[in-house]
Amino acid sequence: MAHATLYRIRKKLFKYLARIVPTNGQRIWCLRRCGYEIGSAVYIGDSFIVTDTLEYRGGLVIGDEVAIAPRVTVIAVSGPTDNSRLIALVGAKSGPVRIESDCWIGAGVIILPGVTIHECSIVGAGAVVTADIPPFSIAVGVPARVIGNVNDRSPANHSPI
Ligand SMILES: CC(C)(COP(=O)(O)OP(=O)(O)OC[C@H]1O[C@@H](n2cnc3c(N)ncnc32)[C@H](O)[C@@H]1OP(=O)(O)O)[C@@H](O)C(=O)NCCC(=O)NCCS
Repeated sequence: MAHATLYRIRKKLFKYLARIVPTNGQRIWCLRRCGYEIGSAVYIGDSFIVTDTLEYRGGLVIGDEVAIAPRVTVIAVSGPTDNSRLIALVGAKSGPVRIESDCWIGAGVIILPGVTIHECSIVGAGAVVTADIPPFSIAVGVPARVIGNVNDRSPANHSPI
């Protein structure tokens, strides 16, 4: 069987398994077998979805010590599937999503193709991330906008009462 076909079958199987296995360790094991790059000490909550095609490779890169809350959706490939009229008009978009080390992604966040969330940033629950987030940012909303810097939240910067 051709190598490409084996890759597709393996990805389909492990993507499915990643959704139903009960533990973080098992989920990450399955996602790595889909070809996604995931660093060390990463937590990925339940109902994590990566939207791409079975042929697309390298759609997700996660650094070390990243925490991803439940129901996060990463979109690496996006287009109006099988609608030739809309595809002709708006096309499809694709690009790897990168979540650098030490980021925290809140519940229900949606990240669009090609976006990088740079190191040590927080994305608030429910945000839709349409563009890169600079390092050390706190970003919220739809579309996600930076509202602060994590360094300002450091206890070292808290003034005494
Ligand atoms: C982003 C977050 C970390 C910000 O926390 P914070 O620094 O304590 O921020 P505050 O609560 O002081 O809110 C600051 C402002 O941002 C707004 N805000 C906070 N979180 C928001 C969110 N998720 N979406 C939209 N606006 C948000 C607040 O309403 C507030 O606005 P205001 O200044 O107009 O009143 C937090 O709200 C959040 O979303 N955490 C993720 C929670 C989660 O998903 N946990 C999953 C389990 S691990």
